[in-house]
Amino acid sequence: MSKIIVLATTNKNKILEFKNILEGFKVEIRSVAEFGPLPPAVEDGLTFDENAYKKALHTAKILGLPAIADDSGLVVPALNGEPGVFSARYAGEMANDAENTQKLLEKLKGQKDRRAYFKCVLSLAVPSGPALTYEGECHGIITEEIRGSGGFGYDPVFLFEEYGKTFAELTLQEKNVISHRGKALAEFKSEITKVMKWLEQRLLEEKPPKPDHSQFSDNDWSRS
Ligand code: IMP
Repeated sequence: MSKIIVLATTNKNKILEFKNILEGFKVEIRSVAEFGPLPPAVEDGLTFDENAYKKALHTAKILGLPAIADDSGLVVPALNGEPGVFSARYAGEMANDAENTQKLLEKLKGQKDRRAYFKCVLSLAVPSGPALTYEGECHGIITEEIRGSGGFGYDPVFLFEEYGKTFAELTLQEKNVISHRGKALAEFKSEITKVMKWLEQRLLEEKPPKPDHSQFSDNDWSRS
């Protein structure tokens, strides 16, 4: 019987990437979306590691299945690590990519040290808590103006010096080779045999999976 790993994302590209990596292993990758709406994880960690683990464990506990989650963002040392775990909501809870990027450019006005890096952490957690973590970083420079129309988030201001292009000027294939997410995935992939052994062992140690329905409100269960 094949094992199921739930991917705590609805992003179709991420799901395809994982399916690809795990081809040939007796494991089935399922998107969290296939299990219906789940209460959202509270992403209040101070690091990418914490948030990736919180998201993975949250999903694993509710569904009683191993789960993978990722967390990523931009780190600017001259701004004491900002925007960091607040990357998606740097200019406010409802801020969009353009507003977040604008705030970053304003904060860096006149700043000579414009070094920055993207970081991505992948966490694979089993319902009882143990987890494996993989990470990747990509270093670059924040430009003074936006350049390029591809990508998302801070891509138009993130210059990858070796190519002399911002992430928004690269194709997705070019970006995937050098990006923080690409590197974290590559690390996961290179260790996949070890990962599968680890997972098998953890699942043997687990009590029979018992989904944690306490995360749902009473109303969810009273409906006929
Ligand atoms: P998430 O962890 O994928 O949700 O990313 C959190 C936030 O980090 C995004 O909303 C972006 O602002 C930023 N971010 C993460 N990865 C990238 C990237 O590859 N390019 C640009 N921005 C990114």
